[in-house]
Amino acid sequence: MKAVVQRRYGSAVLGDLDVPVPGNGEVLLEVRAAGVDMGVWHLLTGKPYLVRFIGFGVRGPKSPVPGRDVAGVVREIGPGVTEFAVGDEVFGTCEGSFAEHAVAPVTRLARKPQGLSFSEAAALPISGGTALQGLRGVQPGQRVLVLGAGGGVGSYGVQIAKAMGAHVTAVCSTRKVELARNLGADEVFDYTVADFTGTYDLILDCGGGRPFSLLRKATNDRGRIVLVGAETGGTITGGFHKMMAAPLLNLFSSRKLVPLMSAERADVFDELRVLAESGKVKPAVDKVFPLSEALKAVDHVYSRRSVGKTVVAI
Ligand SMILES: NC(=O)c1ccc[n+]([C@@H]2O[C@H](COP(=O)([O-])OP(=O)(O)OC[C@H]3O[C@@H](n4cnc5c(N)ncnc54)[C@H](OP(=O)(O)O)[C@@H]3O)[C@@H](O)[C@H]2O)c1
Repeated sequence: MKAVVQRRYGSAVLGDLDVPVPGNGEVLLEVRAAGVDMGVWHLLTGKPYLVRFIGFGVRGPKSPVPGRDVAGVVREIGPGVTEFAVGDEVFGTCEGSFAEHAVAPVTRLARKPQGLSFSEAAALPISGGTALQGLRGVQPGQRVLVLGAGGGVGSYGVQIAKAMGAHVTAVCSTRKVELARNLGADEVFDYTVADFTGTYDLILDCGGGRPFSLLRKATNDRGRIVLVGAETGGTITGGFHKMMAAPLLNLFSSRKLVPLMSAERADVFDELRVLAESGKVKPAVDKVFPLSEALKAVDHVYSRRSVGKTVVAI
């Protein structure tokens, strides 16, 4: 099969690999589309260096194929699989979706939402799941601020917070203002012109790396600041050390910093399926690249040109 092959960090090429064989609890997918997010860039480059020490491979990447978000068709069932049958259309995450075939554990798959294309479904799992988990507990009428609203996680953050009945304020750069409005934000700040104002019950921080002190000033008493991530944290920990400090800092304030480690699970993806089928969430797919240009797709996201989500179609 054709696949993007990555033997060491910082270098990947289009090549040929054997079709993988599904093991216990796994299925073989014919990949139709693979989502691209900042995580793919982290695993392609091995940066920040911390990613090498949290299970993805110290000397080189454990998975020879990059890509995690996936949408495709089940072509073979591994031992013990009862959840899916050959021919089912599914979406979720796996190791190595930048390929014509990939093996995925059923614990990370759900049925593809009806009405979504494979490209739209592949844009959903990681970014949508992260936004969903970051917004848990939001009540109707609460004020939610989404930083990085024109990016992958943020574009879902705006839609899911609206679906929960919140008043949503989006923050993004000029090129992404129109998208944020179209996604349903009640108010949009273009931070290149003037930064946001106001106070919020929950801040979903998906970009910008603003200081905690500034975020706390913008949070109501007993409000939450959900730390999703930013690309401003340096090449060693990528800002993870700041997230680690959150429990200690929380001792001194009622405005809680909540570090988010989103889980990739079938039940989360199934919730996203329901939201997508109800029309409350629609993946904002910006550009679709062919497999031969998968690395260009990653660069498109890394260079912040992606407005919403970027996808590789196979
Ligand atoms: N904790 C977790 O479990 C988890 C899960 C998924 C992703 N992440 C991390 O979360 C971050 C966001 O992921 P993503 O996939 O959404 O990335 P993305 O698609 O690149 O979106 C990030 C957005 O932040 C915007 N941004 C940059 N500076 C900003 C500022 N000062 N104010 C407001 N917005 C700003 C960027 O574009 P503009 O500046 O052009 O507006 C971009 O649209 C990444 O660092 C990723 O690694 C964490």
